[in-house]
Amino acid sequence: MLKPTRRPVRPYFSSGPCAKPPGWSPDQLDTRILGRSHRSGLGKERLKLAIDLMRETLALPDSHRIGIVPGSDTGAFEMAMWSMLGARPVTALAWESFGEGWVTDAAKQLKLDPTVIRADYGQLPDLSRIDWRHDVLFTWNGTTSGVRVPDAEWIPEDRVGLSFADATSAVFAYDIDWSKVDVGTFSWQKALGGEGGHGVLILGPHAVERLESFTPDRPLPKIFRMTKGGKLNEGIFTGETINTPSMLSVEDAIVALEWARSAGGLPGMIARTEANAAALDRIVAGRNWLGYLAEHPASRSRTSVCLTVAGADAEMIKRFAKLLEAEEVAYDIAGYRDAPPGLRIWCGATVDAADIEALGPWLDWARDEIKN
Ligand SMILES: Cc1ncc(COP(=O)(O)O)c(C=O)c1O
Repeated sequence: MLKPTRRPVRPYFSSGPCAKPPGWSPDQLDTRILGRSHRSGLGKERLKLAIDLMRETLALPDSHRIGIVPGSDTGAFEMAMWSMLGARPVTALAWESFGEGWVTDAAKQLKLDPTVIRADYGQLPDLSRIDWRHDVLFTWNGTTSGVRVPDAEWIPEDRVGLSFADATSAVFAYDIDWSKVDVGTFSWQKALGGEGGHGVLILGPHAVERLESFTPDRPLPKIFRMTKGGKLNEGIFTGETINTPSMLSVEDAIVALEWARSAGGLPGMIARTEANAAALDRIVAGRNWLGYLAEHPASRSRTSVCLTVAGADAEMIKRFAKLLEAEEVAYDIAGYRDAPPGLRIWCGATVDAADIEALGPWLDWARDEIKN
């Protein structure tokens, strides 16, 4: 088979860090704050701008606070777990490796004896089995299996426990009903195309109530502490970060958020994601050797789309991905190390649909090369 002539212009299909926004260049970064204090007037202004732009783009209701915290998504999720869990029983949901990570935290580190509801790679567990007197931990979009929750309908309005959503591969790509999310977390390097390093923590009113009424029986590192004298440290949610952030990452997030605004805000980003995933759907539909790891269409991710490859083992996938990387037509498309062997192609908003379309013939070419 001859090499296809058309190449993706931006071969960035990694599921994290994901493609930078179209047209991104380091020249776009406002560098005035570099070399200066993040607690200066300008520093606080830039942090606040990042927070305000996130609030606007996510269409976050006024009831919810949003702040920048250390340690990327993991830091944000763990600070919430360590600060809030233990007040009531815990249920942890897992259907791929990131959800499993939160199960490990709850069971082995926090020793909370959680109820664990699991499903295999490709499946979603039975969400109707959840006892909502519990605090419930889940991953909105399982990045390593390409299985997401289809919506927030399964989270009751009158829940007693708190919902903790790791939404890092879901925000800026899906329409999230924040009224169903008490704790939400993400990091910038996914659908927004920002840099890693910082987590974003979203707290609904019930989460704040929990923080102000419950003191966990465990030591809390300084970078997890969200209250002072029994009251929420509101500064975290206006740009007074707990410790020193990378202002370069903050400036980069601002560039990405300004791009998001220019691309039509959240509706625009969702439309771009959908167009990308639809382009990939067409590629899969035209090839009997490609399929989806996620069995049910409603819970199939539209961001981290995980594909099965007929007859593939881990070795074949490695060669497949390497061939395409060497051709500079697709970077980082091998599935996650703990997932069943397959391909994973990011379809978030910072990817262009034309580039997904151009990828199809290259997948055929790589398969042919390996077969011969
Ligand atoms: C669903 C999910 N949760 C958590 C993480 C960890 O994110 P971070 O590296 O920002 O801590 C990832 C990273 O890929 C993820 O996809």
